[in-house]
Amino acid sequence: MRETTPGERRVSLVPDTVGRLAKGGNEVVVERGAGQASSFPDRMYTEAGATIGDAWSAELVLKVAKPSDDELGRLREGTVLIAFLQPLVNHALVRELARRRLTALSMDAIPRITRAQPMDALSSQATVAGYKAVLLAAAALPKFFPMLTTAAGTIAPAKVFVIGAGVAGLQAIATARRLGAVVEAFDTRPVVKEQVQSLGAKFLEVDLGETGEGTGGYAKELSAEAHRKEVELLAKAVKENDIVITTAAIPGRPAPKLITADMVRSMKPGSVIVDLAAETGGNTEVTKPGEVIDVGGVRIDGTTNIPSTMPYHASQMYSRNIASLLALMITKEGKLNLDMNDDVIKGTVITKDGDVVHEATRKAVGEKVPA
Ligand code: NAI
Repeated sequence: MRETTPGERRVSLVPDTVGRLAKGGNEVVVERGAGQASSFPDRMYTEAGATIGDAWSAELVLKVAKPSDDELGRLREGTVLIAFLQPLVNHALVRELARRRLTALSMDAIPRITRAQPMDALSSQATVAGYKAVLLAAAALPKFFPMLTTAAGTIAPAKVFVIGAGVAGLQAIATARRLGAVVEAFDTRPVVKEQVQSLGAKFLEVDLGETGEGTGGYAKELSAEAHRKEVELLAKAVKENDIVITTAAIPGRPAPKLITADMVRSMKPGSVIVDLAAETGGNTEVTKPGEVIDVGGVRIDGTTNIPSTMPYHASQMYSRNIASLLALMITKEGKLNLDMNDDVIKGTVITKDGDVVHEATRKAVGEKVPA
């Protein structure tokens, strides 16, 4: 499908994946211009075995962003839709998908288990975001990243601080290190310390009196006391660094506010904060989601949907995630078969046969358990 959400430049299937699907005996229809914004022209799709045409009447519809109202109206009852639906927050959409008897699978619901790693679109897109965040910061910083010894004297390396060392944070650390910066990082899950150190960064140690380790390897919200301690600790590090990349998130919750307006003002003029948590409200008190602002000479970048600014590889990775998921859903004979006993399928299907079948979504939306 050609994405219609403003600013969305990714595409759900790249020609390489289309080629594999077509070779497997599947009929692939691609909407005209679907890959244009991610540098995949129609010609590449037809060469890979697709036809260009009306893809909305297909049995299986693949997208990146959730469908608009107009697009929902074009989907036939029983169609299987795969996209980023964010069902825990998009309640009206979930109800509508069920009402229209669509089978909807959400790429952000893929369980974070080892077997599902090839399908993990949250991770693939976070990898892109972590990398690009550092480039955005580097391009805006009025300083070099690496230490340089030149005829004009020695240049000190830039100092980068990464808050939250999940998938995006670790990629940000690796990217900043490759560019030659001195990097430190913090996360409320102490288990990431070794990963941070193995990338050549320093892990900030603090005793918050508790860990942020929740279930399934994810973070949980801190108590008010631990949160206060964390903000206190971060104040010194934020003040001393040239760049701060924030990625702290709690699944299904607003991003924790870790950097106060005073902490922003304490930074050296020319410093840069890239807030990868902007989409869920931001990790700073001043972040304006979707905007780049200046507070006392400090740049706070709240750009949302950063993966879409690197659409070629973001699409390629998403497309491979989708292909791995499809491998679980399409039989050797080329028939669609959703095995609801498979953990990955069960965790990813949101609506089916008119019901909201995904447990966490049902709770969030307030739907009753189907009979
Ligand atoms: P995320 O995007 O939900 O959060 C980003 C990071 O922010 C996390 O590392 C979290 O601990 C941290 N954070 C939360 N609150 C914080 C606070 N107050 N201060 C500082 N940091 C804070 O996480 P992401 O990147 O999606 O993945 C988190 C973890 O999930 C991974 O490190 C891993 O353990 C697990 N995972 C497992 C996978 C698998 O087995 N298939 C795939 C991907 C992730």
